[in-house]
Amino acid sequence: MTSSAVEIQASTLAGYADASKLRQANDQDWVLDQAPVEPRVHADLGSGIGQLLEATLERFPSLQRAVGLEQSEHRLREAADRLRRFGDRVRLRQADLRSPEPMDLSPDLVTMTSVLHWLYPVEERLFAWLGQHMALDGTFLLTTYHPSRDEHGLGGEDELVREALVALGTDRTLVPRRFADHDVVPIATRTRDAKGLHRLLERHLRVVTTAERDAVVQVGSAAEYEHFHAATFGDYYSRMVEPGLRADFFRAVGEAAWRRQQERGHVSHMPIRLWKTTTRG
Ligand SMILES: C[S@@+](CC[C@H](N)C(=O)[O-])C[C@H]1O[C@@H](n2cnc3c(N)ncnc32)[C@H](O)[C@@H]1O
Repeated sequence: MTSSAVEIQASTLAGYADASKLRQANDQDWVLDQAPVEPRVHADLGSGIGQLLEATLERFPSLQRAVGLEQSEHRLREAADRLRRFGDRVRLRQADLRSPEPMDLSPDLVTMTSVLHWLYPVEERLFAWLGQHMALDGTFLLTTYHPSRDEHGLGGEDELVREALVALGTDRTLVPRRFADHDVVPIATRTRDAKGLHRLLERHLRVVTTAERDAVVQVGSAAEYEHFHAATFGDYYSRMVEPGLRADFFRAVGEAAWRRQQERGHVSHMPIRLWKTTTRG
């Protein structure tokens, strides 16, 4: 069976440069305003297509080295194209942050934006690794989402997925079981609450400040959200649906989002938190 364009997009996480304008790219300045004045070595974890590395390289002439660690080969290739003009100041590596490997650099600036939920439930390994690898008094800037969740642990993007599954014929009450049967941990469960995360961070790092604001997503059409979902969540949720229905699934997610946009004036609305942390010294 041939895959549809949106399934190919999801399997390669393509289209993120456009999709991230709806949400993630809006956090760049908010995050970098908390960076040290003259960082020397920056490591971006889950560096995607290299947008944040590009921003630090442009903003901080002091940067000798910018390192991106990222799981997706497709994203690493796109990042390499984007960052080629910075020559050997850039180093990109394929890495699984759930089991981080030793690093020969000690970054004084580390960022991780819109990634932590993918490391659940073993985020602590990364915090321990940072405690060992970051320069003394280095700064780790982390953003985390905090959607509300229902009694089954579903919330945020899970709600749109629930609508899409129901539109494709699943009984609403059976949706949580469908998640469990396919080992899809709801994103609202993956995003721990702020208190639990604070405790986890403090075991290895020192939380200096936190700030919170609203992460609002608005779209102009169902198709726009369909592509945002494919570029951001890839095939994480679509694997719950049999192959012949996957294109319909992505379309149904877009339609559910568009219905919300028309009813509420936005698709989603949830707190995003920025944590500024440092080494324990
Ligand atoms: C929503 S994107 C965020 C990208 C970028 N940090 C930003 O703020 O736009 C999440 C990124 O985390 C990467 N990622 C997810 N799980 C990962 C893992 N276990 N190890 C490394 N990277 C991972 C994905 O491939 C993706 O590029």
